[in-house]
Amino acid sequence: MNTSSPKGKAVPIDRTTTLFMLDENPEEVYRRLRREMPIARIEAIDRIVFTKAADVRRVKTDMEHFGSFDTTTPMQRAFGGHTLMRKDGCDHMRERHAMEGAFEPSLLSDRWKKSFEHLTDNLLDQLNGKEAVDLSQTLAAPLSAGYLKLALGLEAATDAQLFDWAAALIQGAMNASFDPAVFEISDQANEEMNDCFDQMIARHQKSPDGSVLSTMVNQTDPIELSQTRTNMKICIGGAVIESRDALLSTLYGLLRHPDQLQACINQELWKQACEEGLRWMAPIQASPRIVRKSVVMSDVLIPEGETVMAIQASANYDEEIWERPHEFDIHREAHAHQTFGDGPHQCMGGDIYRLLTSEIVFPRLFDRFPNLALDTNADVRFRGFGFRGPKSLPVTLI
Ligand code: HEM
Repeated sequence: MNTSSPKGKAVPIDRTTTLFMLDENPEEVYRRLRREMPIARIEAIDRIVFTKAADVRRVKTDMEHFGSFDTTTPMQRAFGGHTLMRKDGCDHMRERHAMEGAFEPSLLSDRWKKSFEHLTDNLLDQLNGKEAVDLSQTLAAPLSAGYLKLALGLEAATDAQLFDWAAALIQGAMNASFDPAVFEISDQANEEMNDCFDQMIARHQKSPDGSVLSTMVNQTDPIELSQTRTNMKICIGGAVIESRDALLSTLYGLLRHPDQLQACINQELWKQACEEGLRWMAPIQASPRIVRKSVVMSDVLIPEGETVMAIQASANYDEEIWERPHEFDIHREAHAHQTFGDGPHQCMGGDIYRLLTSEIVFPRLFDRFPNLALDTNADVRFRGFGFRGPKSLPVTLI
């Protein structure tokens, strides 16, 4: 048997990119890397990154060479346990399977459409008579919290709690220096979340409703309470801020291109708008993986044991797949984007987000407010390297 390591070139080092550039304008960083060194170690973050679509997909799907299992990440400490997202193989599948019933595509519409419509209409009612609002505060944030409280089975939580918990989990998961002050905040959030879960579990055991928590606790052979809790935290930390940001980025794209918006209104192209928004601005820009076994890709040796980043935001702009990838264009030829990941850890919530936005929020918003436009005085800014979206979206309504 040949046990020698595969041979390849050392990973090229990108010394140009700074943390500021990644936060401010990662699109330009990745454009250069795709052209000059698609697999590179960015010195500023000391991580090997993959920026081409085929490589990003391979990192997510080649389980022989890349895995998620990692017990050294601050994520475990921040989430109060080991989540399904950082497990591989049977351990991962068992926990994923425990919540799968809640995401069954054929049941989603029957289960949630009416309550999502009700939620949306109530929020739109509150905009009536207003001249100018920030759509982040008045629509996207309460919608995201509201639909997730229903879909996750967490009606006892407040909107503010969901956002605070999500922020605490994300900060904790990124706490590479294991700063105790950061974990103090995530510990507090964990205590509040666990209390909320316990309260809701008692209710779901009496009257199941098909939500994620209800599905997990009503299995004939349920997973451990500790795992139910940590995996609920994945659905909070990975969905509340992301759904808000995806919604806002798509609305911004449409409002910047009134001709495309008009086409959506006239021809009901909301599904195309939803997919293009997801492609154009991936709310989760990158996902980590551990190299399980050394591998050579494009002549470059990726050494065993490295933590690497698959940059789905860059995969979505790969010039080999998309023409003019930096432009928002709902009419572009359809190709699969990687905003929801790929392989065994692919996002479970993509279809719920699509149901909410393309079938309910987009058509209803523009039906109610046909003159809705970007506030011409507003400077809409996108920020963030790991997570990315507009910080606000000021619009005029009449
Ligand atoms: C626009 C909103 C969302 C985005 C952009 C997003 C993105 C992602 C991505 C990229 C992953 C894969 C991470 C990886 O490969 O390591 C993921 C995983 C996951 N997402 Fe989402 N997500 C969104 C909404 C949701 C919602 C609404 C839910 C639940 C209601 C959800 C539940 C999950 C779960 C449970 C996983 C882990 C799956 C596993 O490890 O097997 N997500 N998400």
